[in-house]
Amino acid sequence: MRLWWRGRRADVPDDRSGLVVAYWESHDEHLLTATLGTIARRLPSLVAAALRMAWQASPRDTAVALTGNLVAGVFTVFGLVATSDVLASLLAAGPTPERVRAALPSLLFVAAATGLRGGLLAAAGWAQARLKPQVERLAETRLFELTTRVELAAFDDHDFHNAMRRARDSGVPDTATVVETTIAVVTGAVGVLASAVALGLLHPVLMPLLLVTAVPAGWAAVRTARLGYRAFYRLSAARRRKFMLSDLMAERQPAAEVRAFTLRDYLLGQYAKVADLEQDVQLDVARRQAATKAGGDLLTGVATAGVYVTLGVLLAVGVIPLSVAGAAVLAIRTGQVSLTALVQTMNRLYEAGLYFGDYLAFCDLARQRLPASPPAAASAPAPFHRLDAEHVTFTYPGADRPALTDVSVTLGRGEVVALVGENGSGKTTLAKLLAGLYRPQQGAIRWDGVDLGAFDGETLRRSVSVIAQDHTRWPLTVRENIVMGRPPEDDRLAAACAAAGADEVVAGLPDGYDALLDRRFRGGHDLSGGQWQRIAVARGFYRDAALVIFDEPTSALDARAEHALFERIRGHADGRTIVLITHRLASVRYADRIYVLDHGAVAEQGTHDELMALEGLYADLYELQASAYRQRVP
Ligand SMILES: Nc1ncnc2c1ncn2[C@@H]1O[C@H](COP(=O)(O)OP(=O)(O)OP(=O)(O)O)[C@@H](O)[C@H]1O
Ligand SMILES: [Mg+2]
Repeated sequence: MRLWWRGRRADVPDDRSGLVVAYWESHDEHLLTATLGTIARRLPSLVAAALRMAWQASPRDTAVALTGNLVAGVFTVFGLVATSDVLASLLAAGPTPERVRAALPSLLFVAAATGLRGGLLAAAGWAQARLKPQVERLAETRLFELTTRVELAAFDDHDFHNAMRRARDSGVPDTATVVETTIAVVTGAVGVLASAVALGLLHPVLMPLLLVTAVPAGWAAVRTARLGYRAFYRLSAARRRKFMLSDLMAERQPAAEVRAFTLRDYLLGQYAKVADLEQDVQLDVARRQAATKAGGDLLTGVATAGVYVTLGVLLAVGVIPLSVAGAAVLAIRTGQVSLTALVQTMNRLYEAGLYFGDYLAFCDLARQRLPASPPAAASAPAPFHRLDAEHVTFTYPGADRPALTDVSVTLGRGEVVALVGENGSGKTTLAKLLAGLYRPQQGAIRWDGVDLGAFDGETLRRSVSVIAQDHTRWPLTVRENIVMGRPPEDDRLAAACAAAGADEVVAGLPDGYDALLDRRFRGGHDLSGGQWQRIAVARGFYRDAALVIFDEPTSALDARAEHALFERIRGHADGRTIVLITHRLASVRYADRIYVLDHGAVAEQGTHDELMALEGLYADLYELQASAYRQRVP
């Protein structure tokens, strides 16, 4: 088996090289090595956390689910003990009608206990079913409340990101599983306890018999699950490759390139290799699981025979009467079913609990990364007269070099300020700091002399509009894409679209502002790169902000649209401050001030004329672009 495995493994590309364990594999080792003891030790804290969560989601449903199961257990005991009375009456000496009459009260009691037990279990089941969606919703809401509030820098942190994906992909769904299996474990435990108590009441010597019959079944359940995990673990690299391949073959975005580069056969071939391996491993595990189950059943049969022999001996030597032996058989069967279910659900609870633990850990981690609210946060800052970055140094989390070093810039009210510089010089980073999205490690950003840190983050961001270089193509309607959660005002919308040149885009769409910009939905539309950019710019104009940052707003625009936009940006400033980042230097000639960034520092600053006179980096870059246009084709 081992050799076969090694042989197969060689022709499957191992994409683990150079990668840390993927976030969804992080618990596979635990699952592989967990013993029943480990599982049992972790259970109490898990059960407590799960019940707390369930209680917060719905106290009533949690109470009904738990008490229903507990009280049903009591009725199980009554039912089993009363069965022995029924048998005692039926097996007593005397005429049959007499015996049946004598058994009637106990029989009615058994019927009532069984009926009540069924009713309670049905109520508990209904409460449990209601609990599941409520817990899922609570877990998800909590997660998204945190992910949308944590400081932006957290998303640049690899560990945070991994923890978040683990919590979102496995933690949230497993939260409901943990609650569900916790109740199942309680139910199973109550069932076992009820059978054990019933056996103890019938005769103390009967209690250990329950354990003897349940051990093989429990062993088989744990071993089957362990075999499943082991296969899952062995396949994890292959599975990751399969996810990647399925995305490449079935998603819209790579579809054009799959055809253009005639990748079909290659991708299908890779898929077949991975699928072959997966199938082989799965068939192998199915065979082993079937053998384990057969072994478990055989051992259970032997144990059951042993129990019956023991019961027979006890009967023969007169330790227990026949009626008690009959009821004991029933109690042992009931207990056996409960115990097998208990072992299985404990196993599932342990597994889901690992992911639930991730969810709880992520929530704690995210709480630590919420932006610190200043002691006396000022609310919405008034439009500023000056916005200054003073000796700002900023390093991205985990980066070994600062992206900005000792940068100072000043923006005056109503000015158009341009940031230029080569790729990676720090323009986008500076813009994000000016918008308050990141906090500098040294220096400060001051809004009329007040550090941005003194403002409430939410209200500050309402005064700033950022059109990012890699702006999001929101899968929403045109109107929603521009209004972005603000109250929709038709006049403003039309003005913003006209300023951005998006009015032509809207006019070309059959549903106008109501056109849905996502082709994955029926009736959805897609736009060209430049059309998307116009929508994004309109978004920037729509927001009533004191500071508007355009990060390369024209990179996808045609020459005419670009020229028109720069004209409009000047006209639209109207008391607002515009920060314009662009590589098209001809367009920044008319900016009030230009900052030239180089390797994270301000290399030059001034107006276009001043910078040209300086004959430095700006003049070089400008001349380079200008000469490209001047060159005559011979
Ligand atoms: N999220 C991030 N995490 C780590 N480093 C980053 C991150 N974003 C940018 N950087 C690094 O910071 C430096 C400055 O990047 P920035 O995006 O500010 O450059 P830019 O001037 O806007 O470049 P471009 O003209 O290409 O848009 C670069 O070295 C870049 O690799
Ligand atoms: Mg940039």
